[in-house]
Amino acid sequence: MVKICCIGAGYVGGPTMAVIALKCPAIEVAVVDISVSRINAWNSEQLPIYEPGLEDVVKQCRGKNLFFSTDVEKHVSEADIVFVSVNTPTKTQGLGAGKAADLTYWESAARMIADVSKSDKIVVEKSTVPVKTAEAIEKILTHNSKKINFQILSNPEFLAEGTAIQDLFNPDRVLIGGRETPEGAKAIQALKDVYAHWVPVERIICTNLWSAELSKLAANAFLAQRISSVNAMSALCEATGADVTQVSHAVGKDSRIGPKFLNASVGFGGSCFQKDILNLVYICECNGLPEVANYWKQVIKVNDYQKTRFVNRVVASMFNTVSGKKIAILGFAFKKDTGDTRETPAIDVCKGLLGDKAQLSIYDPQVSEDQIKRDLSMKKFDWDHPVHLQSADPTSITQVSVVGDAYEATKGSHGICILTEWDEFRKLDYQRIYDNMQKPAFVFDGRNVVDVEKLREIGFIVYSIGKPLDSWLKDMPAVA
Ligand code: NAD
Ligand code: UDX
Repeated sequence: MVKICCIGAGYVGGPTMAVIALKCPAIEVAVVDISVSRINAWNSEQLPIYEPGLEDVVKQCRGKNLFFSTDVEKHVSEADIVFVSVNTPTKTQGLGAGKAADLTYWESAARMIADVSKSDKIVVEKSTVPVKTAEAIEKILTHNSKKINFQILSNPEFLAEGTAIQDLFNPDRVLIGGRETPEGAKAIQALKDVYAHWVPVERIICTNLWSAELSKLAANAFLAQRISSVNAMSALCEATGADVTQVSHAVGKDSRIGPKFLNASVGFGGSCFQKDILNLVYICECNGLPEVANYWKQVIKVNDYQKTRFVNRVVASMFNTVSGKKIAILGFAFKKDTGDTRETPAIDVCKGLLGDKAQLSIYDPQVSEDQIKRDLSMKKFDWDHPVHLQSADPTSITQVSVVGDAYEATKGSHGICILTEWDEFRKLDYQRIYDNMQKPAFVFDGRNVVDVEKLREIGFIVYSIGKPLDSWLKDMPAVA
C-alpha cells in the first residue's frame, strides 16, 4: 500500500488530502500538523475550516484511509510520498520584509524530513513557494540525510476557497514539475498515477521544476490583475456614468478575454493574491527586473486604492463624518462560502471607518466574534513601508459589536456596508431594514449584490461599486 503523508493540515492540506483519500482507497493518507488544536478539530465533528462538501468527504474516509495526527515524525518516516503544505506568509521583518515569502516553516519541515527519513522518498512542494525553492530544499535534504534518495516535485495547488472540493474533484489542470532525469521522471510518474485515479491524464501537465513553481505565482498574478483591472475601470465608470457590470459583460464576451473573474469589488482578499504577487515582485527585483516588478506591484496598489476609495465614499456621503454613527457591516470573510478572513478587504474598510470613529455592528454567517476582534486588533501590515508598521488603536475595538444576524446589525444604523457577497444578503427584506434605520439611510454595496433600483425605490441612498451614482453621491464627491 502506498503511504502518503501531508505536513500542514490547513486550508490546502486538509481538503486536498481528503479528496486523495476518497478517490484512492488503496492509498493510506496521514495529515500531520504541529497545531494540536487543529488536529483535534479535524478529528472532531466541528472541522477547523468551513468549506462546502468537505465534511461529507472527510466523514467517508476518516479512520479508514485518512488520518489526522500530531505525530509528525512517525508518519513522515513511514511515507513514500511526503506533501509539504505549510504556510508561506510574507516576511514582516529582515531581508525582503514586506515582499519575500517567509520559508521558515518550509525549511523546518524539510530539516525534519531529512532527520527522520529511513527510506527513499518523493517530497512534494504543495505550498506556494518562490521559484527555485526546490533547489534549496534539495540541498537541505541531501546535506542532512544518510544516503537516502529524495526526489523533489513541485505540485502547486490551484483550488479556491469556498469551492475547494469542486475544484479538487474537477481541476482545470494538475501541474507536476520535476527534475529532467530518469529518477525525476519516475517520481513524476508516481505522482501522476495518484491523480490519474480521477483526473483525466490530458489535464495532468508535467514540466520542469522551475516552470511549475513559477506557473503558480503567474496564475495568481494574472487572476488578481483581472480584478484590479476591472476595479480600476469601476472608478472610471463612477466618474462617467458607465456601469461596470455592463462593461465587464461586454468585455468578457470577447472569447480571447472570457467572462470569468471580472466582478468589480471593494478589493480582492484572501491569503494568496497579495502574498504571491509581492513574492513575484521580490523575485523580479532580485533578478534585476525593476520594470517587471513595478508592473505587478501596481496590481496591489490598485487594490489598496479600491479599499481606500470605498471608505472615503462612505464617509463623504454621510456628511463627511461617521463619528458616533452606527454602521452595519454585512460580511467579513474575504469571499462567500468561507469563514477565512485572511487579508479580507473588510479589515481595511472597518479600520478606516473606526479611524473616523464610527460604531460598527458586524455580521458574518461564518466568522466568529473572536476572529473579527482579533483581526481588528492586529497591527496593520503595510507591505510598502514594512519598517513603519502602523500600530493598532487599542481603544477602537470598543467601537465594535458582533451580532448574530443582518437585521440586528442594521437596526438603528445610519448606513450599511456590504463587504462579502453571501447569497443571503441578496434575499434580505430591505423594506424592513429601511424602516428600522436612521434617515437618510445609506447602502454601500462593495460586492454589487443588491438591486440598486429596488433599494432606491424603497428610499435608500445607494452606492454600488462602479454603478452610475445617484444625485446625492454626485453632490458629495469623495477624494481617494
Ligand atoms: P494554513 O495556514 O491554513 O495551513 C498551514 C498549516 O501548516 C498550519 O496548520 C500550520 O500549523 C502547519 N505547519 C506549519 N509548519 C509546520 C511544521 N513544521 N510541521 C507541521 N505543520 C506545520 O495555510 P494554507 O492556506 O493551507 O496554505 C498552505 C500553502 O498553500 C501556502 O503556501 C499557500 O500559499 C498555498 N495555497 C493556499 C491556497 C488557499 O486557498 N488557502 C490555495 C493554493 C495554495
Ligand atoms: C485564489 C485562486 O483563485 C486560487 O486558484 C489559488 O489556488 C488561491 O488563491 P482564493 O483566494 O481562495 O483563490 O479565492 P478567489 O476566488 O480567487 O478570490 C480571491 C479574492 O478575489 C476574493 O476576495 C474575491 O472576492 C475576489 N474576487 C474574485 C473579486 O473581487 N472579483 C472577481 O471577479 C473574483
